[in-house]
Amino acid sequence: MGRFYVTTPIYYVNDVPHLGTAYTTIIADALRRFHLLIGDETFMLTGTDEHGQKIERVAKEEGLDPKTFCDRISQRFREAWPKLEVGYDRFIRTTDDDHEAFVKDLWKKIEERGDLYEADYEDWYCVGCESYKTEKELEQPGNICPLHKKPVARVKESTYFFRLSKWEKPLLDFYERHPEFIQPETRRNEVLSFVRGGLRDLSCSRTSFSWGIPVPGNPKHVMYVWFDALTNYRSALGHSDLTRFWPPNAHVVHLVGKDILRFHAVYWPAFLLSAGYKEEELPNVVYAHGFLTIDGQKMSKALRNAVDPLKIAETLGADVLRYTLARSVAFGQDGDFDHAAMLERYNADLGKNLGNLLSRVLGLCTKMTDSKHPDDDPSTDGPVEKELADAYTTCVTAARKAWLDLAPHVALEQTFKLASAANAYVDRAAPWTEAKNGNTARIAKILSRLLRVLEALSVMISPVMPRKSDEMRAQLGLQPTVLGIGNDIWPLEMPSIRAGLTLAPSGPLFPTFDDKARDAILAKLVPAKEAPVTPAAATPPAPLAAGTIAYDDFAKVDLRVGSVKSCERVPKKDKLLRLTVDVGESEPRTIVAGLALSFTPEQLVGRKVIVVANLAPREFGKGLVSHGMLLASGPSEQLVLATVDGDAAPGARLK
Ligand code: MSP
Repeated sequence: MGRFYVTTPIYYVNDVPHLGTAYTTIIADALRRFHLLIGDETFMLTGTDEHGQKIERVAKEEGLDPKTFCDRISQRFREAWPKLEVGYDRFIRTTDDDHEAFVKDLWKKIEERGDLYEADYEDWYCVGCESYKTEKELEQPGNICPLHKKPVARVKESTYFFRLSKWEKPLLDFYERHPEFIQPETRRNEVLSFVRGGLRDLSCSRTSFSWGIPVPGNPKHVMYVWFDALTNYRSALGHSDLTRFWPPNAHVVHLVGKDILRFHAVYWPAFLLSAGYKEEELPNVVYAHGFLTIDGQKMSKALRNAVDPLKIAETLGADVLRYTLARSVAFGQDGDFDHAAMLERYNADLGKNLGNLLSRVLGLCTKMTDSKHPDDDPSTDGPVEKELADAYTTCVTAARKAWLDLAPHVALEQTFKLASAANAYVDRAAPWTEAKNGNTARIAKILSRLLRVLEALSVMISPVMPRKSDEMRAQLGLQPTVLGIGNDIWPLEMPSIRAGLTLAPSGPLFPTFDDKARDAILAKLVPAKEAPVTPAAATPPAPLAAGTIAYDDFAKVDLRVGSVKSCERVPKKDKLLRLTVDVGESEPRTIVAGLALSFTPEQLVGRKVIVVANLAPREFGKGLVSHGMLLASGPSEQLVLATVDGDAAPGARLK
């Protein structure tokens, strides 16, 4: 392969790192580390996506100018990744000067080739996705974004269009000639049918806000945030590396979540082709992975179910988290994350399989070989050695192939299959029986063979568990793996005999947790669940008195504390106010309320209110949709607002 360039998406700074974003970043780093093992030169890119309406809005809500806000959150990402053993080569910010200069340059190239033109534009836009939507893509009624569960906005402004339609045929030809470009296969088919369905020109600039890169020659416009963001993969390479880590001189893999595949697989190559890149200068692979879910729901800030990866890393070590994520989720598919399952897997794979193998072999060596690597004569191998050798070849070959095929879960499965084969070999070869018979040559063979397999395993786990790899090697009397460009150290052959080398056992590599220890860890890691809304019914419910409702009926109403962020009158509607209310979701909701005869907008901003959060959206005409209702009491001219006492956070449930 030679040079390997792997990227993560750049993360929006409206959120801090969570397990979902850590997932992609960890897998990218594991791939980087695997490629270092096989002697490739590598470059890993990650960073933050800082422009656009969404970020401008969140910054405003925090009372900060956008750049100060971005500095603050971007730093959280920059600092988080090394704590998860992620070694990126560049952390890019879309507010970096060199990035902005590069984006402007790309824009000019595309403009010079006639692929940008100015025209009026009107469409639906989801600020959460930072993406235009057709009505077909939205849930009705109310034009709701299916991902963010919020109504989208109607955008009408002058824009620069990118002539995406012109690239429909060249893109289809490119996909045809490079079936590996979009992976996995199912996702490829989705993109193919989207493009075959016809591409519309893409609105690529906005005039209704200013937090973005100004369009060269027309600074009233800022660039569409995705035009800016996608370009990071090129701008990050800087001028010296610009061709070095780019095709055809390097193999480029973009890892993305399935929700942002279209931007990467359609818009990005179209921008590049339009700017004059040739087909062989396009990225090699866009791989769309699935979502990490909690109880089947996507983990996200909006759903308030995000897990903090740093807390897990502090408690169990980053390596354990990395292993869990890479092994438990089939890359490409959604995977449910569960703390208890993580600990079970820890005990089974790490503690009882690999950890136990190491302890067993080192323990036997302490007793039988004076804590030294013994010597061996391979010409005297018996059938059990042959079996182990076969398992060895199968597993190391399959694991290597899986890494190259972007299937880390398979690579780890094969790695741990080898550990199981080695454990089975200890049982079958039974060195303790040989000891009773005084068969020292056989003991030496068995333990030497096992130490060699352990050395191979220390290399094979290193892409996901770099620290544990070093610790394991130290116990085996070995230095950390030595990497070098052109030096492929993937152990296709069993490592050589190291007769005489002193071992350094130092306790279990992965001490297993008993039930008590497991419960203590879970108590620390798992946030306390909200008390069940419905009390467990031990006795059948009593018949309802007339005019009453059952508790279950009441519990259907989702009442939440809201904080009013902004408020304005609705033109031509005397009674109505349009409010944006923070109910603890990623973005405030729009709520239309008949409060205008009792309150001025200024009187409401900053107030804590009670929101009926699960009321079906209600249309007030002209695209104005209310997403919830406020509770108030009194006649229209003398309303009092229902509010909460004390310090309840937005989104807190009333029950
Ligand atoms: N800023 C854009 C990406 C621009 S790349 C040129 C963006 N940012 S994001 O922060 O919203 O999402 C970044 C990535 O995190 C996406 O690939 C998304 O799929 C991924 N994930 C967010 N939540 C996730 C899970 N729960 N599980 C797995 N990945 C998830 O989109």
